[in-house]
Amino acid sequence: MELHVLDHPLVDHKLTVLRDKNTPSATFRELVSELVMLETYEATRDIDVEDCPIETPICPMVGKKLVKHPRPIIVPVLRAGLGMLDGMTRMLPTAEVGFLGMKRDEEHPTQQITYANRLPDDLTGRQCFLIDPMLATGGTLVAATHYLAERGAKDVTALCIIAAPEGIKFVEENIDPSIDFKVVVCAVDEKLNDKAYIVPGLGDAGDRLYGVI
Ligand code: URA
Repeated sequence: MELHVLDHPLVDHKLTVLRDKNTPSATFRELVSELVMLETYEATRDIDVEDCPIETPICPMVGKKLVKHPRPIIVPVLRAGLGMLDGMTRMLPTAEVGFLGMKRDEEHPTQQITYANRLPDDLTGRQCFLIDPMLATGGTLVAATHYLAERGAKDVTALCIIAAPEGIKFVEENIDPSIDFKVVVCAVDEKLNDKAYIVPGLGDAGDRLYGVI
């Protein structure tokens, strides 16, 4: 697994406003979009492009455009991942969008239940981008990545806003090493608390995005 932690003063500024409990939902959503756009820049360094002949007002030239086939696919993990979708699709307008709903299995807390799935059956050869703002225990991220891998995905990049060291360790130890797997985050925080919230974190990302306090 490759971990990329963004190191930039603009990210620090936006993340600080995002964390502040007094930041209203509308501003929170805007900031998530902006941070995702900055993360996408890093996350798509290896995105496939192809030569594309065009004419500028001055002369012909061969430029580069995102490949049309196979298209990259963005997969938000419901519900909080939806808040990252707008920023990502703005940066990657040719991408297809799938959806994955996962929650903790209360009877087997280390396992995840997939309660919603809207994905192509075959992801062979597709560049997949999983989006989920909080990498807390890492359980959802591992389950979601393996869910994509069962459909043939071999190239998966996860974009999260904040990660806990415990979650990163869990992902490193449990992700199938045959998957080309990257994680891009804006910050790695101190720890998880006993309710599996990231400390200092930003609280419940879904509630803050969608206004449930
Ligand atoms: N999910 C959240 O929304 N926040 C956390 O701190 C951890 C998981």
